Amino acid sequence: MRLDKFLSECNIGTRSQIKDLVKKGFVTVNGTVVKKSDIAVNETEDDICFKGTKVNYRKFIYILLNKPGDVVTATQDKKAKTVMDLINPLPAKDLFPVGRLDKDTTGLLLICNDGELSHRLLSPKYHVDKTYLVGTRDKLTGEDLKKLEEGVDIGDDDITLPAKAFVDEDGFLHLTIHEGRYHQVKRMLEAVNNEVVSLERISFGGLKLPDDMDYGDWRELTEDEINAIIQQ
Ligand code: URA
Repeated sequence: MRLDKFLSECNIGTRSQIKDLVKKGFVTVNGTVVKKSDIAVNETEDDICFKGTKVNYRKFIYILLNKPGDVVTATQDKKAKTVMDLINPLPAKDLFPVGRLDKDTTGLLLICNDGELSHRLLSPKYHVDKTYLVGTRDKLTGEDLKKLEEGVDIGDDDITLPAKAFVDEDGFLHLTIHEGRYHQVKRMLEAVNNEVVSLERISFGGLKLPDDMDYGDWRELTEDEINAIIQQ
């Protein structure tokens, strides 16, 4: 890989900024200052430093964000603040949210630059589990829970796939679904003559929202978490 491509993929700067930084002597390869940014490097074996700090090459970056309820799930938006605005500094270019949470939905959102994984996690073929903690307008009955579990008519061609539903001691519904239709949870609650008053995603494809993360907090996935999500 060319040095300038490597450094730009690691978000050191644009290609022209990198050319300049390399010329100024800020970059070393295996301990030697290099002055040309178009040289070939081995991204996995060479020791490449920028201003004395090793630049680690990772093909993909995976970020877990606790989405607050006042940002939109998009890479950019003309008016509203987006989830990407919260990731600062951006550890890589080309990051995007995997799927979509409504603006007022909070909780676990995966952000990455791995298109293949994203495609797989969102594909209806793979039935990836998503668990939501749902505040409801009215108390749910056993009959409602049974209907939510068996599948309800939300106005699409097919009823919803079997789900898991229970109400905890604080009255919150824990709903695990295996598909990701538009406004699915809100429409499922409407189908049992109820209404969502708060919605938080607490797990997604083997990832769990950590208790110690506040709204807007984010971090890169641990190796174990990456393995868990990749094996979905
Ligand atoms: N279901 C919804 O209705 N909204 C979300 O944001 C996620 C699931």
